[in-house]
Order: sequence, then C-alpha cells, then structure tokens
Amino acid sequence: MKGFVFTEFIEMVENEFGYEIADKIINEDELSSKGVYTSIGTYSHSEMFTLVANLSKELKVPVPQLLHVYGKYLFGVFNKNYSHFFENIHDSFGFLSLIDEYIHIEVKKLYPEAELPKFDILEKDGKMTMLYQSTRKMSDLAMGLIEGCLEHYEEKATVEKLVLDKNEEKVLLTITKHS
Ligand code: HEM
Repeated sequence: MKGFVFTEFIEMVENEFGYEIADKIINEDELSSKGVYTSIGTYSHSEMFTLVANLSKELKVPVPQLLHVYGKYLFGVFNKNYSHFFENIHDSFGFLSLIDEYIHIEVKKLYPEAELPKFDILEKDGKMTMLYQSTRKMSDLAMGLIEGCLEHYEEKATVEKLVLDKNEEKVLLTITKHS
C-alpha cells in the first residue's frame, strides 16, 4: 500500500485526536516499518490494520468505524491531490462508476506497485450496487470513500453493506439516493 495512504492516516490522527495518540499508535505495536513512512514508499496493508487496531484500542471505537472515518477523510485528500480525475464528472454515481474502469487504472499506471480492489457496478432506478472484491478486506474503507464522494457532490444517500463471504473479501455495497 502506498506510503501516502499511511502518512495521510497519521496526519488525520494527529489533527483529530492529537499528537500523543498518534505517537502511541505508531509505537505501541511491532510495526515492521517502525512507524516511519514516506509518501513515496510502499508498505504492507497489514500495517494499516495494525495502526487502525491500535487507534481502536486507544479510542475504544470499533475498527470498521475508524476505517470509515478515514475513507471519508481520504476522499478529500484524493479530491485535492488528483483533481484531474474529477474533471467533467457531475455526480457521485458518475464518479463511482469510473473507479474501476478509469481512476484505478490510472492509479496503477502512476504506481505499478499499488494493490487495488475490483468493483463490479450496476446502476438502476436511483440505486447503485458495487460488488467489492479484494484480498485486502477493506470494504469499510470503501464505504467511507463512498460517503466522502456523496458529501463532495452534496447528495444524500444511504450506503449499506452486505458481506458475501466469510473473509470479507467479497462485499456488496448498495447506495440508495434520497430524493
Ligand atoms: C480520485 C479518486 C481515487 C484515487 C486517486 C484512488 C487511489 C487509490 C490508491 C492510491 C490506493 C492505494 C493502493 C495501494 O497503494 O496499494 C487505493 C486503494 C483503495 N481504493 Fe481507491 N482511489 C480513488 C477513489 C476511490 C473510491 C471512491 C473508492 C470507493 C469505492 C476507492 C476504493 C479503494 C479501496 C477500498 C482501496 C483499498 C485497497 C483494497 O481494498 O484492495 N477508491 N485507491
């Protein structure tokens, strides 16, 4: 997983919960990177789970909820740093339908070492279903990113999650727009 996904996470923790907590979650557990990340480096996605698990212990907030919060935050970062992906897209469904067939393809060209999920998308009657598939098991991060996307386009919708396998590698995310 790219280093900036880690550096942005630590920055969010510093800003939202303070430097002391950020310091604790980096030092509490044996991290193979020793908690030192550069934005251009690449680190195991399991380190992200360790950091989130440490934060969960500190704040007594469940891991899925924290991944959710981070996903929302990360969408804002993507919006700022990759603004060209947003050109000529006017709503959330337009944006979300392009992740698999355009955005993540471009991301892979920029960062060949990136490990990205697969999304199969179906849109009908104000409802979108996204079938998330990834061995990284980060559908909660995806939910947060989707909510960040809805907020960005100032749309109201409900996002629901249905886990389809025991490892959470296959998850159906349903977005229902409110009229
Ligand atoms: C401008 C928009 C976006 C950019 C630039 C982007 C880029 C990235 C990057 C760089 C990673 C890290 C991969 C790695 O380093 O191994 C990533 C992972 C991921 N992205 Fe995107 N992404 C964008 C939008 C989205 C959206 C809207 C979703 C939500 C559906 C999404 C879902 C995910 C998930 C869940 C992962 C974690 C890896 C996994 O589950 O296998 N991305 N993305």
